Amino acid sequence: MRILAFMGSPRTTGLCAQFTESALKGAASRGAEIKQFNLVKYNLKFCRGCYKCVHKNHDLPIGICPLKDDMAGILKEYLEADGYLMAAPVYDFTVPSVMKVFIERRFSLFYKTKGNRGIPDARVKQKFKKKASLIATGSAGEEFGPIAEPCFEVMGGHFMIEEIDVLDQLYVGRIHDVDEKRYSEKMDETYNMGVRLVEEIEKARKGDE
Ligand SMILES: Cc1cc2nc3c(=O)[nH]c(=O)nc-3n(C[C@H](O)[C@H](O)[C@H](O)COP(=O)(O)O)c2cc1C
Repeated sequence: MRILAFMGSPRTTGLCAQFTESALKGAASRGAEIKQFNLVKYNLKFCRGCYKCVHKNHDLPIGICPLKDDMAGILKEYLEADGYLMAAPVYDFTVPSVMKVFIERRFSLFYKTKGNRGIPDARVKQKFKKKASLIATGSAGEEFGPIAEPCFEVMGGHFMIEEIDVLDQLYVGRIHDVDEKRYSEKMDETYNMGVRLVEEIEKARKGDE
């Protein structure tokens, strides 16, 4: 089983990164192979909205984007993986631009016929055999939890179309005021998210072998 984490904080050693690592460690403790993509370190160009990736090559699992950067390689690994973690700090009420660029470029995973007015559909449906969990961090206290909702919607939207369940959504607030006790609690909580992710994927696949 392979679990990938996509971490959208520009601070690759910040708390968002640490909670993501902790969730991956939880997944590894259940035997998963893990990999964390700190997205800011990759060459990801802005989507230009040309629609070539979704309008053409409908026989391929991943549409061909004319932009030449790291995205094609990431999407190949994405499709081969079994489960996902997506994590981002709240920046101006939504995900940081780094994460948004990545999410827009996932458009190649979808197809659409030219002229079709509906929303694009997933090229590969996962039939709920793959799962995902989401983490958001922010300055606003956890009593203002709804502040993270736009982040969860943006990070989780594509999963719905791909038929991938989102299991957990954890918001960690007051991020600049995390004492030792709360840090340790949140590290445990994220670790358990990773454990649960693997367990739920295994459960969903039981009986398939
Ligand atoms: C440009 C910018 C915008 C931000 N906007 C918000 C916001 O709208 N709401 C909020 O609660 N925190 C906001 N924050 C605080 C970040 O969410 C916080 O610094 C981050 O979660 C810390 O995680 P890190 O350690 O991974 O950097 C913002 C921070 C920056 C730099």
